[in-house]
Amino acid sequence: MSIKEDIENIQQKDPAARNWLEVLLCYSGFHAVAIHRLNHAMWNSKIPGSKLLARLSSQIVRSFTGIEIHPGACLGRRVFIDHGMGVVIGETADVGDDVIIYQNVTLGARAAARGGAASRGTKRHPTLGKGVVVGSGAQVLGPLEIGDNSQVASASIVLKDVPANSVVVGVPGRIVSRDGQRVPDDMPDIEAEAIKTLKDHILALEAQVKQILKDSGKSPLAVTASQVQTPSEESISSMEAVDVFLHGAGI
Ligand SMILES: CC(C)(COP(=O)(O)OP(=O)(O)OC[C@H]1O[C@@H](n2cnc3c(N)ncnc32)[C@H](O)[C@@H]1OP(=O)(O)O)[C@@H](O)C(=O)NCCC(=O)NCCS
Repeated sequence: MSIKEDIENIQQKDPAARNWLEVLLCYSGFHAVAIHRLNHAMWNSKIPGSKLLARLSSQIVRSFTGIEIHPGACLGRRVFIDHGMGVVIGETADVGDDVIIYQNVTLGARAAARGGAASRGTKRHPTLGKGVVVGSGAQVLGPLEIGDNSQVASASIVLKDVPANSVVVGVPGRIVSRDGQRVPDDMPDIEAEAIKTLKDHILALEAQVKQILKDSGKSPLAVTASQVQTPSEESISSMEAVDVFLHGAGI
């Protein structure tokens, strides 16, 4: 674990990083991780006041990088925080080697753990395995585990464990692929199901109206416009729109 290794890692992973000097001077994620390593050592030291100093230093780094890493958090080797603004990493988070974290990511605690002193000292934040990628804006909340080499999509909210080699997307996060194989989506699309029920209901009502007209001896064609409103072109095209929507939802 060294500054040289962190710089080389960023050069290797970010096509925008042209040389080591650029990384050293311009990469907030590099600054935040490098100083965090000192803060973490300070946090674990037995010297009186060292924890307060570590927190103070972490807050100062936050003010110029926009990245808040609690000094208690454990970061592995070659962790790369790209862009970084808005990243928050909580006290009991564990971040494995070769993890990439983009801007506006939270590795945070869930509401229950924010109950105050009672949860102090307990594991409240996520554990990220080796090689995990957390996309921009993703929120990973609670003492859950994300397995090695998994990827969390931008803007997802992850609330449950994620096995290794998976891709998790959405709110709440669901696994869309694992070990390179697509995972069938078993989450019901509630809106599409509701629209399908309504459509079926309308079709059943139409059939009933036709049957009533037939039983009463009146041809639907013979019924005057004042008695039955024939479907307008607008309503026919909106029913087609419903079909297109349902087709898109896979129903
Ligand atoms: C999660 C991620 C790694 C998946 O990449 P991938 O393996 O190439 O997978 P795909 O892009 O083929 O996406 C797989 C499925 O997830 C969906 N998906 C991908 N990212 C998504 C997101 N952020 N939100 C919702 N759905 C998403 C895709 O639409 C696709 O669905 P489909 O198969 O039904 O079409 C990538 O989408 C991602 O979000 N990376 C983070 C990038 C980032 O933060 N960049 C910031 C740069 S500044």
